[in-house]
Amino acid sequence: MSEFNKQTKLLSTTKEDIQTAAKIIKNGGLVCLPTETVYGLGANALNGEAVLNIFKAKGRANDNPLIVHIAKFDDIKPLVKSVSEKAKILAQKFWPGPLTMIFEKSSLIPDEVTCKMDTVAIRMPSHKVARAIIEESGLPIAAPSANISGGVSPVTAEHCYADLKGRVDAVVDGGECEVGLESTVILMVGDKPRLLRPGFVTAEQISEQIGEIIIDDAILNPLKKGQQVLSPGMKYKHYSPSAKVIIIDADDEKYYSYVNQSQGEDVFALCYDEDVEHINKKCLTLGKHFDNESAANRLFYNLHQFDLMGAKVVFARLPKTDGVGLAVVNRLLRSAGFEVIKL
Ligand code: TXA
Ligand code: MG
Repeated sequence: MSEFNKQTKLLSTTKEDIQTAAKIIKNGGLVCLPTETVYGLGANALNGEAVLNIFKAKGRANDNPLIVHIAKFDDIKPLVKSVSEKAKILAQKFWPGPLTMIFEKSSLIPDEVTCKMDTVAIRMPSHKVARAIIEESGLPIAAPSANISGGVSPVTAEHCYADLKGRVDAVVDGGECEVGLESTVILMVGDKPRLLRPGFVTAEQISEQIGEIIIDDAILNPLKKGQQVLSPGMKYKHYSPSAKVIIIDADDEKYYSYVNQSQGEDVFALCYDEDVEHINKKCLTLGKHFDNESAANRLFYNLHQFDLMGAKVVFARLPKTDGVGLAVVNRLLRSAGFEVIKL
């Protein structure tokens, strides 16, 4: 298809390459750039046509709005109607960093970014390279995760390139992302702040700053037929590797015997370091037993690895849902299409 035969440049993080990336953004092009969470597929957020090309390149549903990335707090002012006291507190505490807040949008934000919603999601990333590209372009950058829709979010430049080669103008290689899964998304419009997507900034940390928040039901539960969603992203298939992921909710012994008894060359385990010696299948680990931060960091990376290793079935241990664990379980449930075997 002619629109997908772009010459995708591979850029480094030198000053010169960052200037090149910023120039592509200014000219209405598409650049994959590293952030501390996952790689983003960025375009000028004020250019509706450029933003539309993000949807085409990803094959993204046209009702799933994008996050707008800024480099400093003052950049938010022209983009939103107002910033509440609670939002200011969260910005002060967690920006720059892996937190996205949703506000009422100003007329400067094109409909293409928000899919005609009257709210806009804003994030100030902490990654040096993301910030440098935003600053150098002098523009807010709209960026979803840099993967074909439905797949696993990219945490290395290689992951972006494998998915989007030919579809984007450049990929900036900033190494592996530190957090490893997407930002926390919180709706700041309405009576009470509402957590729509858990992330590295936890519900507990947010409540500590601004009091009670609502945890949206859709975070740990599949949508019921016809259920209304506040974040369109909740509707769609997500984070699916080629391998079939099945979650096993069991204690150590039951998990080991279930995995060990299952037949087949291409069966793999996604477990913890301490489990490996008890399992007779190939394993990738989420780190030390029930260490949620390390699990967040390893989850997407390992899902990409399973595909490279030719896995057909992956039996994943169910992490705990406290702290960052809520984000890990939220993503894992979606990669498994909510298939959980409880033993
Ligand atoms: O860490 C991240 O957030 C990464 C990096 C690149 O910053 N970006 C990212 O974008 O994960 P994306 O598009 O994959 O996820 C954005 C989520 C989607 O579920 C979308 O539906 C939701 O945020 N969203 C965006 N704008 C919204 C709005 N106005 N109201 C409700 N949900 C919104
Ligand atoms: Mg995404």
